[in-house]
Amino acid sequence: MASNTFGQLFAVTTFGESHGPAIGCVIDGCPPGLEIAPRDFAHDLARRATGKTRFTSQRRETDEVEILSGVYEGRTTGTPIALLVRNVDARPKDYDELADTFRPGHADYTYWQKYGIRDPRGGGRASARETTMRVAAAVLAKKWLAERFAVSVRGWLAQVGDVVPDLPPDTAIDFDVVESNPFFWPVAAQVPQLEQYIDAIRKDGDSIGARVNVVAGGVPPGWGEPVYGKLDAELASALMSINAVKGVEIGAGFASVAQRGSGHRDEMRLDGFASNHAGGILGGISSGQDVLASIALKPASSILKTGRSVNRAGEEVEVRSKGRHDPCVGIRAVPIAEAMVALVLMDQALRHRAQCGDVGEMKPLIPGSAQA
Ligand SMILES: Cc1cc2nc3c(=O)[nH]c(=O)nc-3n(C[C@H](O)[C@H](O)[C@H](O)COP(=O)(O)O)c2cc1C
Repeated sequence: MASNTFGQLFAVTTFGESHGPAIGCVIDGCPPGLEIAPRDFAHDLARRATGKTRFTSQRRETDEVEILSGVYEGRTTGTPIALLVRNVDARPKDYDELADTFRPGHADYTYWQKYGIRDPRGGGRASARETTMRVAAAVLAKKWLAERFAVSVRGWLAQVGDVVPDLPPDTAIDFDVVESNPFFWPVAAQVPQLEQYIDAIRKDGDSIGARVNVVAGGVPPGWGEPVYGKLDAELASALMSINAVKGVEIGAGFASVAQRGSGHRDEMRLDGFASNHAGGILGGISSGQDVLASIALKPASSILKTGRSVNRAGEEVEVRSKGRHDPCVGIRAVPIAEAMVALVLMDQALRHRAQCGDVGEMKPLIPGSAQA
């Protein structure tokens, strides 16, 4: 199976299946000298992990990262970094009954049509378990981006079903609030409402869609490679590669449809941009404003409600999921979306440095822009 590698100069290859012995990744091209230890992965992997609350899957993975290569005396050496996470709560038997059935909304049927072979264990390679390694690889990217450029990449849950954060437009997100509740929700007062909402859906044996927003602050102007490696094009591709993502917006996104040019264009003054409908990207290159991305996640297909499908024998059957599943996959997608944005930015930063590192800072530099 091809296409398991992401990025050009910071290239991440992931491997492994949901209910196999382990998952892992190899990161090639990480700059040398970055301090890294297994404990650095704990925070983000815990944010992505299952089994912490009733609002996510009850699978209990410890997600401890083993660093197999590329790090010596606590620093990256510039050689390939191999990371491994063992699957400790794999239950492949949970899926025996489904081995011959194509679950609706899952990748079973398309994998079967493409590869002619079926790994029924929890979706195999199509499972979001794979995203553990994206989050792990992005720990290095986030750290380097923060240390080298003071870039921060933060995400939050921006909608669940028809529940939206009760915030006036353009209110700055308080990330202490986001990190203080199991939903990554930006309004503390709404958390009980969200609990009730998701509980009701879970008890009904169903699932619900969501929106996740990500903001990257401190990105200097100049990152992104026109025309086929545009920063927004690579963000869209990276975010769309996350399981269950059905839509990606940059900046004003689809709201641009109803805007006029006079309202959409972000007017420029020497003291700053008047707005950020572009989402910090013009012509595929970062402008120095915050990079804004938003994704739509579909409701998980593994639900307790019986649904119609077909099996390998060509019979029409009924399916009902019994495994351990997420009522709203958007919750755990927050750190995954951050990870994909960080991986794109890391790769683009290295690519910018390779070609344009000698250009230096150009005048005028509009305030709000970080130093290149
Ligand atoms: C964090 C996360 C957890 C997920 N957990 C489940 C799950 O428990 N049940 C399910 O049906 N789908 C789950 N999914 C979505 C499936 O992996 C995905 O829908 C499936 O592989 C088909 O791919 P597609 O929806 O991208 O086309 C999850 C997605 C994410 C991002």
